[in-house]
Amino acid sequence: MTHSDSFSRAPLRVAVSGGTSGLGLALVEAFAARGDHVAFVARDAARVRRVMGEIAGSHGIVGDVAKKDDVHAVALQIGGALGGLDVLIHNASSLGPVPLALLADTDCEDFETALATNVLGPFRLTKALLGLLAASVRESGRDGARAIVVNVTSDAAVTPYAGWGAYGASKAALAHMSRIWHEELAPHGVAVIAVDPGDMDTPLHAAAVPDADPATLKRPRDVAREIVERIDRERAARLPSRAGMLARDGERSMA
Ligand SMILES: NC(=O)c1ccc[n+]([C@@H]2O[C@H](COP(=O)([O-])OP(=O)(O)OC[C@H]3O[C@@H](n4cnc5c(N)ncnc54)[C@H](OP(=O)(O)O)[C@@H]3O)[C@@H](O)[C@H]2O)c1
Repeated sequence: MTHSDSFSRAPLRVAVSGGTSGLGLALVEAFAARGDHVAFVARDAARVRRVMGEIAGSHGIVGDVAKKDDVHAVALQIGGALGGLDVLIHNASSLGPVPLALLADTDCEDFETALATNVLGPFRLTKALLGLLAASVRESGRDGARAIVVNVTSDAAVTPYAGWGAYGASKAALAHMSRIWHEELAPHGVAVIAVDPGDMDTPLHAAAVPDADPATLKRPRDVAREIVERIDRERAARLPSRAGMLARDGERSMA
């Protein structure tokens, strides 16, 4: 993005789950620093208040994305705070058992928490916010920007690391759900992408790998900058043409 672009474009309306620590906090900082409007969600009310106080242009929401009863209240607060939504980032995550455990030693409840946080939460919140994302595409006009959903995944979604069973299986489900959402929503101008941030120096990484050397890990701020740039590129990719959308719909109905 050029210097002049950053001043000429309208501020983005961005929602980030898990915005009080690690990558989520760095994303809230990165968007707010360029004048975008950011709502973020986390469970610890004191930390939500602190981050909101420290980052001008951010709006904190206390909620648990793993809880069905919280998700609609969170979605309503996102819409109320931002007045619409252009970018939705599912970043909050559960490791499952901590310390990490072999599958044979994993409690079902810990596996359920990983699935509820990492898969069902993003599914429910995306569903609840689809109307706002579609409205963002309509507002942007025929040749305008796409709305973007980012699901933060992991290399554990692909590589079968021993001890990462609940987390890895949930991230694999998230990655595949991203591909299916993308197929279903692309004709409507909503792109759904999965991003693996790599190993970062964060509390989650310290909980999973306590003896890792932080010097070997990526800085969340560097990763956040890469993700913001990717989002800008994805938004700028052309919307499918009306003719293309109708052709795809035709192909579907013949299948
Ligand atoms: N760090 C790594 O090396 C690494 C590697 C690959 C992928 N990732 C992925 O990157 C993303 C960010 O990880 P991170 O390392 O930055 O994590 P982190 O430092 O532990 O931060 C997690 C954030 O999510 C919030 N959160 C957790 N569970 C939540 C829930 N159920 N509802 C709402 N908010 C919740 C936390 O606040 P509360 O506890 O107050 O809710 C916190 O703000 C995750 O998706 C993770 O899987 C990380």
